[in-house]
Amino acid sequence: MCATFTPPPVLSGRTFTVTINGEAREAREGETLLSCARRHDVHVPTLCEMDDLDHTPGTCRVCVVEVLASGATDPMIVTACNTPVQDGMDVRTRSRRVRELQKLQVELLLADHHQDCATCIRHGNCELQDVAQYVGLRTNRYFTPSRVAARPVDDSSPALIRDMTKCIRCQRCITMCRDGQGVDALVVTGTGQDTAVGLRDGLSQRDSTCVTCGQCVLVCPTGALGERDEVEKVVDFLNDPDVVTVFQFAPRCAWDSARSSGCRRERTWKARSSPRCGGSARTSCSTRTSPPTS
Ligand code: SF4
Ligand code: SF4
Ligand code: FES
Repeated sequence: MCATFTPPPVLSGRTFTVTINGEAREAREGETLLSCARRHDVHVPTLCEMDDLDHTPGTCRVCVVEVLASGATDPMIVTACNTPVQDGMDVRTRSRRVRELQKLQVELLLADHHQDCATCIRHGNCELQDVAQYVGLRTNRYFTPSRVAARPVDDSSPALIRDMTKCIRCQRCITMCRDGQGVDALVVTGTGQDTAVGLRDGLSQRDSTCVTCGQCVLVCPTGALGERDEVEKVVDFLNDPDVVTVFQFAPRCAWDSARSSGCRRERTWKARSSPRCGGSARTSCSTRTSPPTS
């Protein structure tokens, strides 16, 4: 369905003009259609791509746009996230053909997706829901319950639940675990319709090298990765007059709480990271804070 452009060489600083939805726009050589569109505030839906992680696997296909290359007679459908801009391109992000294809892609992503959104941990905060809303999806012709039932759920960890019935195979979690955290616990498993994310060497989440840092949960666009919800247990403890409930924050959480309460960062206090916590340069647990100055 999609054509692919050969990336042109990146020439530093060169700019040219492309047309996006009928408007002439400045493009930078080497950038993708998606980054060019974003610089000009043109929205293109995405699911697998994640700029912060430098992650562009091109697997979700919801970023399809229509492109008429300079000198060409027929427009092509390409994925915006991994197609470089070329001089004179005419790009359509909202044509009928594009809208129908984007809608179809989301419908296909939902074909083996657990459909009970109302009870999902990410309900109301789900990128897949947002994109389905954006493309105006109102039907679900390909939903196959047996395919959902065949997908694995791993609830062996005391901290995380990995529910492949909601995985869209974007691989953000794998990149975060490998490049962000340096743990590299997650891998792609299976092929074709059976593709999923699993733990290295076929281990369960509990037995794997996972350090339960939770960073993969933060980048997952759906409810496929979620923290184990212990709220009911905590509320029971709080309501039990015979129990003294003590809260303990992880150092990273302490820093985030301190920062959001107005504490400033300086050399007055240092939190120790847990040996089980996979803090990296990006998500360091080693933090210094002081009380608010005001
Ligand atoms: S919780 Fe952390 S270590 Fe475990 S799989 Fe996710 S990113 Fe990797
Ligand atoms: S578990 Fe989440 S982040 Fe990982 S591939 Fe599936 S949808 Fe993407
Ligand atoms: S965002 Fe382009 S293929 Fe997923």
